[in-house]
Amino acid sequence: MVKVLAFSGSTRSGSLNQALVENAADAAREAGAEVTVINLADYAMPIFNQDEEDEYGIPERAQAFKQLLIDHDAFLIASPEYNSSYPAVLKNAIDWASRKAGDEAVLAAYKNKVVGLMAASPGALGGMRVLMLLRMLMQNLMCVVTPAQVSVAKAADKLDEAGKLTDETAKKQLANLASQVVSMAEKLKD
Ligand code: FNR
Repeated sequence: MVKVLAFSGSTRSGSLNQALVENAADAAREAGAEVTVINLADYAMPIFNQDEEDEYGIPERAQAFKQLLIDHDAFLIASPEYNSSYPAVLKNAIDWASRKAGDEAVLAAYKNKVVGLMAASPGALGGMRVLMLLRMLMQNLMCVVTPAQVSVAKAADKLDEAGKLTDETAKKQLANLASQVVSMAEKLKD
């Protein structure tokens, strides 16, 4: 069974993106995957600094996050758009997990991992600009990003109090994304 790790680029309580990725996790389970949902708030790590890396190595929580990447075949990532780009907390975690220096670390965590990308925003654009940058970032780490991606505009109006998506179009898009992630990961595992 394909193993999927689901996380968002927001550590905010009440995050729209954490809610979105949890909906995507349900869709991936329906598509036949085993899914682990995490919150980056539980993996708080210092801002990357190469001097500290040289002196102390990878911090424990960054190593724990990296181990999760290593242990899964695919990732579902929902990211807020901050000033048309990804939040520092997400990039920082991705950077730490690409260390210690040398290709081996990148290969184990990222190479051939299938990635499904999403963004949610209270605004009208749905964070769609961050998706392009995230696609490039993950591909440069040798991940395989699915053709499908989902941006949910006015997301606060499309989630109920329990964080479940109520918008039929968004639900269909998530199901399609999840099915691409699971089927591509199954093929790459063979
Ligand atoms: C934002 N927000 C935002 N929204 C957007 O659609 N495009 C943008 O460029 C930005 N820029 C931006 C910068 C900063 C520093 C913040 C704090 C916020 C608004 C953002 O979409 C909103 O706060 C979301 O609710 C954040 O996602 P979570 O935390 O709800 O998942």
